[in-house]
Amino acid sequence: MLLPCLTAMVCCCCYDGCPAYGTAQVVLKNITRLCATKPIVTVNGKFPGPTLLAREDDTVIVRVVNHVEYNITIHWHGVRQFRTGWADGPAYITQCPIQPGQSYIYNFTITGQRGTLLWHAHITWLRATVHGAIVILPKRGVPYPFPKPDKEEIIVFGYTLHVETGKTYMLRIINAAVNDELFFKIAGHNLTIVEVDATYTKPFKTDTLFIAPGQTTNALLTADQTTGKYLIAISPFMDTVVAVDNLTATGALRAVANINNISFVMPTTALLQAHYYNISGIFTDDFPGNPAIPYNYTGNPPSNLQTMNGTKVYRVAFNSTVQVVLQGTAFLAPESHPIHLHGFNFYAIGKGVGNFDPVNDPKKFNLVDPVERNTIGIPTGGWSAIRFRADNPGVWFLHCHLEVHTTWGLKMAFVVDNGKGPNETILPPPTDLPMC
Ligand SMILES: *[C@@H]1O[C@H](CO)[C@@H](O)[C@H](O)[C@H]1NC(C)=O
Ligand SMILES: *[C@@H]1O[C@H](CO)[C@@H](O)[C@H](O)[C@H]1NC(C)=O
Ligand SMILES: *[C@@H]1O[C@H](CO)[C@@H](O)[C@H](O)[C@H]1NC(C)=O
Ligand SMILES: *[C@@H]1O[C@H](CO)[C@@H](O)[C@H](O)[C@H]1NC(C)=O
Ligand SMILES: *[C@@H]1O[C@H](CO)[C@@H](O)[C@H](O)[C@H]1NC(C)=O
Ligand SMILES: *[C@@H]1O[C@H](CO)[C@@H](O)[C@H](O)[C@H]1NC(C)=O
Ligand SMILES: *[C@@H]1O[C@H](CO)[C@@H](O)[C@H](O)[C@H]1NC(C)=O
Ligand SMILES: *[C@@H]1O[C@H](CO)[C@@H](O)[C@H](O)[C@H]1NC(C)=O
Ligand SMILES: *[C@@H]1O[C@H](CO)[C@@H](O)[C@H](O)[C@H]1NC(C)=O
Ligand SMILES: *[C@@H]1O[C@H](CO)[C@@H](O)[C@H](O)[C@H]1NC(C)=O
Ligand SMILES: *[C@@H]1O[C@H](CO)[C@@H](O)[C@H](O)[C@H]1NC(C)=O
Repeated sequence: MLLPCLTAMVCCCCYDGCPAYGTAQVVLKNITRLCATKPIVTVNGKFPGPTLLAREDDTVIVRVVNHVEYNITIHWHGVRQFRTGWADGPAYITQCPIQPGQSYIYNFTITGQRGTLLWHAHITWLRATVHGAIVILPKRGVPYPFPKPDKEEIIVFGYTLHVETGKTYMLRIINAAVNDELFFKIAGHNLTIVEVDATYTKPFKTDTLFIAPGQTTNALLTADQTTGKYLIAISPFMDTVVAVDNLTATGALRAVANINNISFVMPTTALLQAHYYNISGIFTDDFPGNPAIPYNYTGNPPSNLQTMNGTKVYRVAFNSTVQVVLQGTAFLAPESHPIHLHGFNFYAIGKGVGNFDPVNDPKKFNLVDPVERNTIGIPTGGWSAIRFRADNPGVWFLHCHLEVHTTWGLKMAFVVDNGKGPNETILPPPTDLPMC
């Protein structure tokens, strides 16, 4: 039986494997902050948006209806999207935008993932207000691999948690901010991390969490202090509410950022369509595997700050193993970058400060029990190394999850070719795929 779903974006699934249906009406809503009322873009008039509640193996079907005057797309951040790149959401990468008055059905199956993720708009800066939680429960009858919590809470921002002594709470913590990394701490308590980015971890204790935009964490809190209210303040989040009148102005700020000296130029036709239909002239697959001119990345920047501009992708064969070393640079100012890869989870096998040393650093890689995730922070003035298996054919975006850096060009894409087996090719596009 399916429950009718009027206000929530998606209902909880009613039996195993059934589709979770929902409608996301993209509408304006007036909100008041600091005594000023501003219209913001929302899903179903809610801010933060409704939670998508599903179970592992569910097919999720969400019809997004655009009632506002802005183009929109929705990204299901961290959902693997096996063969269903059409439902991934980044504008001009896997789909053209849903234009005002149009609708599009996102149709995908959640395979091999459970935990907390987030959904958000993936076009200009709209995700500042168009975002919400994704909660994926384990398959029915399958328990958590840690003691069952007494209560679960979703924490998207500034929040008061009422706790009772002796009870264990599972906090589903989401950083949906556009540009702010955040620290999360509950006075007098340790947290036990049990899951990040919808994969279980070896449980470990910490008193402070650091979460970059786009990252999610499930943490157990055992209330061993007095019963009462604990304020969990994640203040930077509120600063990111961008009223719609400011979107154009903010989005138009321009500086140049690049990866391997390529500043990515957004195409006007979605790359996945160009790839699937063999349309030439939209992208080239000559994204360089290494910087052309090596220099001291964390030292003084080169005097020539010119970059190359282009819509270049890096092509890999199906089932290749891919290692990426994400090296921070000191251009402008050294900053940390949370890098998000679409279509895959990767293993975070190493990180360090300064320049990556290709001879000595790999010896220190953790190839035994690295954490698996979809968004990784590059330390300020340092590097992170990740590995993934290219087992998902399609076009997959890799970009900085600080929206300001993405806007500047800190992004690129992988094309993963089809394999030969029956489940190794991209599914055909849905008939309602938006056109540019
Ligand atoms: C927001 O408030 C303005 C001014 O009161 C009003 O004109 C507008 O219709 C409201 N918009 C929405 C979406 O409620
Ligand atoms: C969702 O995708 C599946 C597999 O491609 C297809 O059979 C089904 O009809 C689609 N459902 C909707 C509502 O588009
Ligand atoms: C948190 O864990 C640390 C290390 O295990 C321990 O020293 C500290 O006392 C713990 N704090 C609380 C409040 O339990
Ligand atoms: C946003 O626009 C309002 C006027 O519409 C202006 O007062 C405010 O300073 C702008 N904020 C930013 C961050 O540009
Ligand atoms: C695109 O080219 C590939 C390889 O040449 C071919 O197998 C495929 O059928 C073509 N696709 C379309 C839609 O023409
Ligand atoms: C790179 O620059 C940093 C900062 O100036 C310096 O500490 C480091 O020694 C330099 N590395 C090399 C290999 O020159
Ligand atoms: C980047 O490309 C530009 C334009 O070709 C070139 O002038 C510059 O030297 C390159 N810089 C680096 C660090 O590769
Ligand atoms: C790349 O684009 C930037 C910004 O539009 C421009 O300043 C720069 O000259 C371009 N570089 C090349 C090599 O065309
Ligand atoms: C992918 O490669 C691994 C070994 O590198 C192999 O075990 C596996 O069977 C391959 N999978 C497919 C679908 O080809
Ligand atoms: C292809 O995928 C379907 C659905 O996940 C599965 O039932 C089937 O066994 C797979 N076929 C092969 C040859 O792996
Ligand atoms: C919306 O998307 C269409 C198709 O790419 C594009 O032609 C149009 O300029 C976009 N509108 C805005 C306001 O960006």
